[in-house]
Amino acid sequence: MVRTGVHREADIIEKARRANEGKPFKIFHYAGEVTVLPSEYADLVAFDKRLSLGAYLKKDFHTHLSGLNPIAALHDEQMLLHKIVRRFSKNLARDDFRRLLVSQAVQNTNRLLGHTQGWSEICIYDFVLDSVARLDVRALWGETLSNNEEWIALAKTYMPSAVAAAIQLSIAPKPMYYLVRLLAPDFRRVLRLARQAEDIIVPIVEERRKSKAQAIADGLLPSLFDDAFEWAEKESMGSEYDIAGTQLALLISAVHTSADLITQALILLAQRQDAVCQLREEIERVLVAEGLARGAFQKMNLLDSTIKETLRIKPAGNFSVQRNSSSDVQITPELKILKGQSMVVDTSRRLDATVFQDPDIFQPDRFLRLRQDPRWGAKALLVSTSSEHLAFGHGNQVCPGRFFVDLKVKILLCHLLLSFDWKLAPGTNTEPSAMGPLLIANQKTRILSKRREDAFEMMKL
Ligand code: HEM
Repeated sequence: MVRTGVHREADIIEKARRANEGKPFKIFHYAGEVTVLPSEYADLVAFDKRLSLGAYLKKDFHTHLSGLNPIAALHDEQMLLHKIVRRFSKNLARDDFRRLLVSQAVQNTNRLLGHTQGWSEICIYDFVLDSVARLDVRALWGETLSNNEEWIALAKTYMPSAVAAAIQLSIAPKPMYYLVRLLAPDFRRVLRLARQAEDIIVPIVEERRKSKAQAIADGLLPSLFDDAFEWAEKESMGSEYDIAGTQLALLISAVHTSADLITQALILLAQRQDAVCQLREEIERVLVAEGLARGAFQKMNLLDSTIKETLRIKPAGNFSVQRNSSSDVQITPELKILKGQSMVVDTSRRLDATVFQDPDIFQPDRFLRLRQDPRWGAKALLVSTSSEHLAFGHGNQVCPGRFFVDLKVKILLCHLLLSFDWKLAPGTNTEPSAMGPLLIANQKTRILSKRREDAFEMMKL
């Protein structure tokens, strides 16, 4: 057993891995005891319905407390959010939806970077976070919320506050819980943000329910909506659910993960101009041949590989497939996870030299080459998951948003690479930071960008 602190955890995990030589081990994490299974166990546990992501989050994030309740909506027993995202993903096949994403991506960039000539310096994370938040809000809630600056601000502020509040509570001695909840600034902040979400969301849903009931009573057809409010109402099938928490959970699951990925990709690509040239060549070739047709972005194989390689080098955390057990589960003859116990799968295989040659080196075309390897094939695609690559989780509770990521991250990167040159600002730090088992793209890295003359314009397609 290894006892860990919050910021020292990455080093400690590495030591524990080495000491246990490929066997499961336990750590005492800030949220309690967790069994860490080597990557090879992913297939054994990820499809077991007795192991739940929701129950894990409940323990880790204290989701029974007001303010942190939206985290519980990320995964409830009905898997409501999973169903909502799957329903939303049908839109990805629509031509008008892809065009909407492209125009929103271009609009956001123009708004944030302007049309200035010459190099200008930006904090890459702030820029990407704002772009992704606006794109996601437009894609998921349409015009109802696309200009709601309070909702867009919540996309950026709620999750970091929730993580800080949950950690603050976890590391406090139990007798202090009440005082922490009452007085700790992070806790007060997360409560305020969750209430703000309720004030935005609940009146919209209530108003729609009222007007639907009125239309039915009048023998009229209710207004048709195709947005996250409607998908939640339909998928909940009349049962009660956390109205604001569900929408806030959708917002945070979509925005931070994607912003972190794009930030990391741009930081890595700013150091690989050769790869940027090859990517531009591929993007232009596909767009000239296919326009914005369905499937065009799936033909950008080097781009697909670059994004998957970025997630291999820096996934959202050292651990994936985080689960808590609803009963005793015998994983192998030697290993039993007891009821109520938490377990995670280590993502260490992504850095194993027997799986990936030169694993510490960012090779944008790595997964493109692996597609030719019969042991990999379709497993090398961005949206595929396997024990070697767990960035989207694995199994029954795998990330349902990865198909949207596949489209929106490609669209954003296409536009950013075609329209701008990128290089690191002199002396800037590019190292990701570790917080507990989380790995976070450097949020302070500064990048120089310059608009390219005569750049290929996706909007003209
Ligand atoms: C780079 C972007 C993303 C990454 C790296 C990512 C990663 C993950 C991971 C690791 C999980 C846990 C899976 C498991 O434990 O097996 C997850 C779950 C989830 N993700 Fe994503 N995600 C991303 C984007 C998105 C987007 C854009 C959406 C929504 C549109 C989304 C919605 C969800 C939901 C609803 C769950 C819970 C799944 C369930 O309850 O079954 N994610 N994601």
